[in-house]
Amino acid sequence: MKVSIVGTGYVGLVTGVLFADKGHDVLCIENNRHKLQKLQNGQVPFYEPGLQELMTKNKSRLRFSDSIEEGVKHAKAIFVAVGTPALASGEPDMTYIERVAMEIAQYLDGYRLIVEKSTVPVHTSEKIHETIKRFAPQGVEFEVASNPEFLREGQALEDAFNPDRIVFGVPSVKAEKILSEIYKDFSAPLIVTNVNSAEIIKHAANSFLAMKISYINAVASICELSGANIEEVAKGIGLDRRIGEHFLRAGVGYGGSCFPKDVDAFVNISRELGYDFALLEEVQKINHRQKKRFLKKIKETLWVVKNKTIAIWGLSFKPNTDDMREAPALDVINELKREQAKIKIYDPQAIQKANEILQMPAIDNHTQHLQQTLQDVELCSCAYDVVTDVDCLLILTEWAEFDSPDWEVIKQKMKQKIVIDGRNMYDPKKMEQLGFIYKSVGR
Ligand code: UDX
Repeated sequence: MKVSIVGTGYVGLVTGVLFADKGHDVLCIENNRHKLQKLQNGQVPFYEPGLQELMTKNKSRLRFSDSIEEGVKHAKAIFVAVGTPALASGEPDMTYIERVAMEIAQYLDGYRLIVEKSTVPVHTSEKIHETIKRFAPQGVEFEVASNPEFLREGQALEDAFNPDRIVFGVPSVKAEKILSEIYKDFSAPLIVTNVNSAEIIKHAANSFLAMKISYINAVASICELSGANIEEVAKGIGLDRRIGEHFLRAGVGYGGSCFPKDVDAFVNISRELGYDFALLEEVQKINHRQKKRFLKKIKETLWVVKNKTIAIWGLSFKPNTDDMREAPALDVINELKREQAKIKIYDPQAIQKANEILQMPAIDNHTQHLQQTLQDVELCSCAYDVVTDVDCLLILTEWAEFDSPDWEVIKQKMKQKIVIDGRNMYDPKKMEQLGFIYKSVGR
């Protein structure tokens, strides 16, 4: 079947490559010239394990263009996967979705199904519908459906090939049939709902997961205050199948392009609808406090932070991605810079991306924030070089590369043998036996 996808971020590109792999003829639309050029040259513009290989394998069924007109002509189903970044108010910025809807409208010449793939507030499909109707030729037929995506960065292909569920939020049997045809080769539980429910499912799922993380982080603080161990506690509660063992890893708090933005958006939408979702506001507060608690640990251990040299392992918000959006490392760096510490940082993938970003013009808020944060920070390309002559090593992303480093080599290189681990990667007893002052989260 022919499918068009507007927007080639994580969701759009992974979906496009996946559909091509399932045999569909896919046209992806991207308006960023630099990104489009890379894609047309067969290159994935970000780091995601396995995606480059899969894209190369399916190149005969995958084309890239900057023309929405071409996208509308190409397929009956047009997926919209453009960004909805957070505004300063916490609400998602719907500018890109609106612009795409207006443009699609202009070129409609017969029935099309417009499918929301981006995470959007409930009632967005109604707004898209109104917008298209306003700008489309009179009487032209179209529908709007929602097909939320649940993939995680770093594990995107695994999640996309083996989803826990597929959700179709559809306005009609006709729309359901089109989506069923596209997804016919997937084996996952299918949930068919109305469009509003599908939109809510995505925000409610992400907010619930964020809530689980904040809950375990709050319990980790209680463990620290009481002498309990969060790893044991998380295992003890997670084995209860009603709770589940996933997403109970205590750490420096959640980050990334989804959880912070989606919880914010869900709180805002709820307020607009007339419900005060105070529970989720507390989830946000706990996440914020978690970073503060981590910084307090650094200050308590080092005593004076000014003029100390601090090494960081991990700049991306999670392993197996070079994405630094809302990465806890950024807040930690900014706070330590305010205290006049000298920062050196190593990350297996994000350093390369950080170097690229430092050379770019400040095209958006995220780029500008990153450029400011990384100013005067030493970016290193080796996990061992970065610890030379430092007073302290912080672990902020749990990359597999950091699983079992040569601590003897590291000890020789460090000025003070202090490791503060925001991801609970190491055994506290072993670290102390090795001669380190070692602090982690909730144990
Ligand atoms: C998330 C959702 O999982 C996914 O379904 C949705 O489509 C997009 O948002 P992603 O942001 O890529 O995916 O990563 P995820 O693995 O969910 O981690 C998000 C954040 O939570 C990371 O900062 C991670 O470090 C943190 N986290 C996760 C914890 O601190 N503890 C955990 O137990 C799990």
